[in-house]
Amino acid sequence: MPQVFGKLPTTRQPWISLGNVDHIEKHDRGVILTCGTAKLRLTILAANLVRVQLAPQGEFLPRRSWAVNRPDEEWEQVPFELEENEIRTSQIRVVIQRSPCRIQWFDQSGQPFAHDTDMGWRMGQIACWKRIETEEHFYGFGERAGLLDKRSEVKTNWTKDALDYDAIDDEMYQAIPFFIALRPQLTYGIFLNITHLSQFDLGASEPGIWRMQAQSQELDYYVIHGDAPAQILETYTALTGRMPLPPKWALGYHQCRWSYETAEVVQQIAHEFRSRKIPCDVIHFDIDYMNGYRVFTWSPKRFPDPAKLIQQLKQEGFKTVTIVDPGVKYEPDGDYLPYHEGLAKDCFVRNADGSLVYGYVWPDKAVFPDFLRAEVRQWWGEWQRTLTEVGVEGIWNDMNEPALTDRPFGDEGVHIPFPMDAPQGNPGEGGTHAETHNLYGYNMARASAEGLRQLRDQRSFVLTRSGFAGIQRWSAVWTGDNQSLWEHLEMSLPMLMNLGLSGVSFVGSDIGGFAGNATGELFARWMQIGMFYPLMRGHSSLTTAQHEPWVFGERVEAICREYIELRYQLLPYLYTLFWQSSQTGAPILRPLLYEYPNDSKTYHLHDQLLLGSHLMAAPVYRPGVEYRAVYLPEGTWFDWWTGEKYEGNQHILAHAPLERMPMYVKAGAIIPMQPVMQYVDEHPIAQLKVRIYPGVGEFTLYEDDGRSLNPDYRTTTFQVNDTIVKIQPSHAVRDRTMLVEMVGVGEQSISEDGSAKQLDFHSHT
Ligand code: GLC
Repeated sequence: MPQVFGKLPTTRQPWISLGNVDHIEKHDRGVILTCGTAKLRLTILAANLVRVQLAPQGEFLPRRSWAVNRPDEEWEQVPFELEENEIRTSQIRVVIQRSPCRIQWFDQSGQPFAHDTDMGWRMGQIACWKRIETEEHFYGFGERAGLLDKRSEVKTNWTKDALDYDAIDDEMYQAIPFFIALRPQLTYGIFLNITHLSQFDLGASEPGIWRMQAQSQELDYYVIHGDAPAQILETYTALTGRMPLPPKWALGYHQCRWSYETAEVVQQIAHEFRSRKIPCDVIHFDIDYMNGYRVFTWSPKRFPDPAKLIQQLKQEGFKTVTIVDPGVKYEPDGDYLPYHEGLAKDCFVRNADGSLVYGYVWPDKAVFPDFLRAEVRQWWGEWQRTLTEVGVEGIWNDMNEPALTDRPFGDEGVHIPFPMDAPQGNPGEGGTHAETHNLYGYNMARASAEGLRQLRDQRSFVLTRSGFAGIQRWSAVWTGDNQSLWEHLEMSLPMLMNLGLSGVSFVGSDIGGFAGNATGELFARWMQIGMFYPLMRGHSSLTTAQHEPWVFGERVEAICREYIELRYQLLPYLYTLFWQSSQTGAPILRPLLYEYPNDSKTYHLHDQLLLGSHLMAAPVYRPGVEYRAVYLPEGTWFDWWTGEKYEGNQHILAHAPLERMPMYVKAGAIIPMQPVMQYVDEHPIAQLKVRIYPGVGEFTLYEDDGRSLNPDYRTTTFQVNDTIVKIQPSHAVRDRTMLVEMVGVGEQSISEDGSAKQLDFHSHT
């Protein structure tokens, strides 16, 4: 096969187009169409979910054991009708056009979507073309540079070390072949269930037609229909899995740098946070904690007693996260055990001829575990004991696209992929690197998560740079090496929102920018919106200026403190959003189109964000800007800071001096808050404050101990109707009171004795 590193080859071989339907055969879960030598299988998995497979030679591939989705047999069988050329479920209608064979999709009101215009194959490639309807826009695609809507663009699915990326870059660290198409009154999702190199062309080559194409023998994709993006994501994450609830401390502020390179420097950083009263929960250790970049070691010089250091940090309320890269130093002569043991157990990827695959990474010449194999994941997971036994509570996986070069880093090596024909996985179960490349980071994160689960009887934190569809089951994701530029602050917004629309909720970008030096103004603005990032981590690169909240002077420090404090005050609300996401796949950080899918004014709105459904930020992302336009969709909105009321369906001009990130709340919002703490659960909450905005709304607060794997939990459901509030708790809470504030009306304090309550704010004031 051609060596393709990212882009599909531009061969001019003609496509062989799928011909006429000769025969339609019904089976339990759908139909199989015979079209000459080819077979097309439609499997109805739910009323809104159909799997489509095209086998040009009529033989469907066996299901791969490492496939990420829920197997077809595990879906409860749903009723459907087949009449002549038409399949009907309770939600959609699928029409089979016979000559030539094309599939047409309709919602209940007869609106068309995802209509095939062609299907075909050529030289190891397969493709399908579909119609773009008027007003259709495209979102998701995993981690993507650029703005929100991807119509007219080409998106390749191939994990890559996207160093120095900018807005026009295509491949990124993550490859998630999933998107949501949206137009007023109609939403559908496409999940291309192929791990090989693949590509979506959203009308770039042919306006009015979108294409998916893959370097694979079989076409395999799912069509999901929904009344709104929420239903698409619920179904997509039922297929690819949902995020388990992370430890609550992982929602606090994380501080990182490449590198805090000695124990003394780490202690100093920790001390600064506490003495300056800037809340912080997590300190990340970048590559310099290791001995010569050997994974699962500590530098004896710089970190002579990691257990003692981490214990001290723990006493001050900090959790420790260490970076772990996949490249294991190739060291036949030394006594470096991960190398020798890995070799003895045959854990590393080999070439087709049996020789070891190697490349150059931080430790110079390195070999790479084959994470596709369960026993290798188990072995790797167990090695994490060297970290957990000294107190490490989270693992940060980096360079797992995988990133490697052909020569030592200092020697101008160029990035190379593994040889495409290197086998991975156990014989009979695996595939070549060409087929499994996109799964490398995914399976590394899986090894980390599964290993931590065995080593620790509580929740752990995993962060990964690379991943594939379903990565949310194992890890949080950050958007790699961004830059200290206003453009990158801006771009982080659509990037994180599109990740959320791809099933990956626990996401963040390096606050302040990784490469380059932030100005105080950029840093302050970035910290303000960083408060909305599900993962709130500051990070900066080697040789850049320091980027901690206090290095830019008192004014910026005060802004950072205020917004990090607000983050901690919002934790009861935020933690509930994490819980919701773990139950339904709903993003935590959402573009407005998620909540207002029929309002086309939201379709390009990349610079306003919702945290949950009701709290909106309109950040400033240009220097010297003190005012910005804000779009308020339908309904009534309140200014978070002043309580001022606005009617929606209009643009307003927000005043945003440096201290102020414009924030708005929808009428009917219920926002539970806690007092400021220096770290999560620093002390029990004496008073829970619930801010309620007059209107109609409901919110169920979720609380548990924040760390257990199967925790006892309690819920409190709030309903507001105008100025009447009903509260239904599942349990009593000892030693805590609740202060309910009806914004602009008044406050009432109640005891949390476990009984249902009704508060009338009208009569109260
Ligand atoms: C990569 C990571 C970055 C990290 C650096 C050193 O560039 O993306 O976050 O600091 O490697 O480990």
